[in-house]
Amino acid sequence: MKNHAIGVFDSGVGGLTAVKALRALMPNENIVYFGDTARIPYGSRSKETVLRYAHEDIAFLRRHPIKMIIAACGTVSSVIGMKPPVGDLPFTGVLLPAVQAACAATKNNRIGVIGTPATIRSGSYGKAIKTLSPNAFVVGKACPLFVHLVENGYTASDNKITRLAAEEYLLPVKEEGVDTLILGCTHYPVLREVIADIMGDDVTLISPGEEAAKYANILLLEQNLLSDRTEEGTVDYYVSDSVALFEENARHFLHTGMEGKVQLVTPQELF
Ligand code: DGL
Repeated sequence: MKNHAIGVFDSGVGGLTAVKALRALMPNENIVYFGDTARIPYGSRSKETVLRYAHEDIAFLRRHPIKMIIAACGTVSSVIGMKPPVGDLPFTGVLLPAVQAACAATKNNRIGVIGTPATIRSGSYGKAIKTLSPNAFVVGKACPLFVHLVENGYTASDNKITRLAAEEYLLPVKEEGVDTLILGCTHYPVLREVIADIMGDDVTLISPGEEAAKYANILLLEQNLLSDRTEEGTVDYYVSDSVALFEENARHFLHTGMEGKVQLVTPQELF
């Protein structure tokens, strides 16, 4: 069991922020990643549909020898809320790790949350923040264009379209005087430069994928499930749409080539 893989899923490339952090923290672990690229975006769908997709993604990952599951997707994590969808394996979404990090980082107790429409509609980040820090002020803002900008490579900080969209979404959040901003969707850290530029140096940005990786590390350590492999772990990627498109997006996303093989999962294999 110790040397089984960590299963990670997202609707697309966003979860690669978690994979990158997992690789840095636990280089000897094997990872199986599923990006449901045929059905992205999740964030504009209903709670029922997102839940159904999440259960199917988890069922796919469970066909591999895995020892834990990470929902590296803010939308799935928000819709699930605090109830883990699997009982027999360690599980984390990005919600709790990101909220813990934000509550620890804030000095003025004013926290902003940006995410997909489904994430913000769920109110889950706000509820979790209030549970940990009842006096916190929370402001949420849906940023529906961000995932599309990222998936289409509009990530440069001087891109006029990206900056215009970011100003439209972020200036009202900034006006609320937040000192901490949760990037509540795993795609958003790729826009970190433009977001940081608009929010200013005094605002701490929380990356949910990175926080989920740290949280997973602690969970595995506590449960004595860290790998005892001495060689470097492998990453196997599976996607439900074009392998070539995923590789191209991932290159933009990670600013490096992919390490590991990407394989196509057909609808027959998925359902
Ligand atoms: N990375 C997903 C999230 O964290 C992306 C969104 C989507 O599929 O809309 O919410």
